[in-house]
Amino acid sequence: MKWTVSSTKLVDTAADLLVYPVFQIEGEADFKPLLKAIGGGKSLAAALDGSGFTAKAESLLPFPGPGTKAPWILVVGAGDTEDFGLDQLRKIAAQAARRALQMKVGRVLVAVPEAKRLGFDDSTFSRCWVEGAEMGLSPVGKLKTAKEKALNPKTWKLLADPKRAAALRKGVAEGSSLAAGCLFARALVNEPPNILTPVAMASRARAMARNEGLKVKVLNVAQMKKLNMGGILGVGQGSTNPPRLIELKYTGPGRAKRPHIALVGKGVTFDSGGISLKPGAGMDLMKSDMGGAAAVLGAALIVARLKLPVDLTVLVPAAENMPDGNAVRPADVITMANGKTVEILNTDAEGRLILADALWYASKGKPDYIIDTATLTGACVVALGKHFAGLMGNSGELIDTIKQAGGETFERVWHLPLVDEHKAIMKGNWGDLKNIGGGREGGALTAAAFLSAFVEEETAWAHIDIAGPSYTESPTATSSKGGTGFGARLLARAVQILAD
Ligand code: BES
Ligand code: MN
Ligand code: ZN
Repeated sequence: MKWTVSSTKLVDTAADLLVYPVFQIEGEADFKPLLKAIGGGKSLAAALDGSGFTAKAESLLPFPGPGTKAPWILVVGAGDTEDFGLDQLRKIAAQAARRALQMKVGRVLVAVPEAKRLGFDDSTFSRCWVEGAEMGLSPVGKLKTAKEKALNPKTWKLLADPKRAAALRKGVAEGSSLAAGCLFARALVNEPPNILTPVAMASRARAMARNEGLKVKVLNVAQMKKLNMGGILGVGQGSTNPPRLIELKYTGPGRAKRPHIALVGKGVTFDSGGISLKPGAGMDLMKSDMGGAAAVLGAALIVARLKLPVDLTVLVPAAENMPDGNAVRPADVITMANGKTVEILNTDAEGRLILADALWYASKGKPDYIIDTATLTGACVVALGKHFAGLMGNSGELIDTIKQAGGETFERVWHLPLVDEHKAIMKGNWGDLKNIGGGREGGALTAAAFLSAFVEEETAWAHIDIAGPSYTESPTATSSKGGTGFGARLLARAVQILAD
């Protein structure tokens, strides 16, 4: 979709649909600004008042446009100004976009509400509007042979007076980049595991990197053997699809010293559990076990498009966890890249093994911050549900940054403890560490405790468990079913805050 900002007069601007957000005052729709803008007379005012439309958030009222160059007007309920936050804004934009799609319109005009109505600046408005509309219309079903014609509204024009245009344009550029990263992540998660193998993921990453001007390096099995990456190789050895370690590098503009941030994302292209095989019901959802990889790759795309003043390294350990004569077994002891030995007690706790080697590799580059994200534990979903990611780490500054970012992008995170008691639980009997804690207690926390053994204590590090929010089995206000792209915008925003 193409986005522009214009300051032409509303009644003179040609479009197929005019989207007009209407706020609520004391439970009633406030149609005054709309009537003033379109020059509607008494009869229209009466008709609107009699429509029963209260401007409740996300409600819609389409009607034929009188006196404008748009044949249809779509009034979108924005709710009470008091409750109007960024998430609400994204949701109403998504809702409007979906209706525009149903109406099969090509050119959409959006009347930007008066500044005094918004509790934030104009660039925030346009950023969130674009994010919401793009995310609300993200496509599914690329592999269906009966192609539905793509009827997405093609051009969107935000309309406001000339003084506001520059800020709105800035927000449009940001919003498009953020949405592109999110949609990139969703598309990767939605690809089936027979197609999106570790090697295919490396080629998707390579193509994206070329497009965005990032450097890429992909380590194959022989190269990982040289680095003794027993974790990635161990998890991958039960599959005929060999593992890879994908590395992207972005160098920010400017001569000043920039913070160096490393993002690490779990890329298990399919998690059958391995020899500790998962139950059959719902196993198909484990195609989404590369949601962390998708998030960090999406974040890299955003950081590159926004040209943020940071140096960024993105690492994706990619492997398929399968049962096989060659697979790792419970009781195996493997040696990791950092030299530590790990006894495998459950081959389904594979994510931490591949992340461990990638975290060690990331640490070698001496970044100022490391953030990893992973669909790591079912325990995190039990603890926090589908709408929150678990956040753990060793740095209050980094935790606060990620919490702030999540509040702004509405990818909500919840801080969970990382303590010595949990690290002690992960000490091994036959090796230095074991890959599962005692029982099911605090499974998300013991997983993070395991990871902490592979980052240097001086490096600020955070771990985000996105097992819950990375995938949705039914559509939400801003996502189609499938991958949600959770983490891409969150990480990019966190990087942006660290850059400031
Ligand atoms: N990929 C799963 C975690 C997961 C569960 C992601 C549900 C998304 C939804 C992970 O590899 C796993 O299997 N974890 C085990 C760990 C256990 C064996 C300690 C789990 O959560 O049961
Ligand atoms: Mn698993
Ligand atoms: Zn997994």
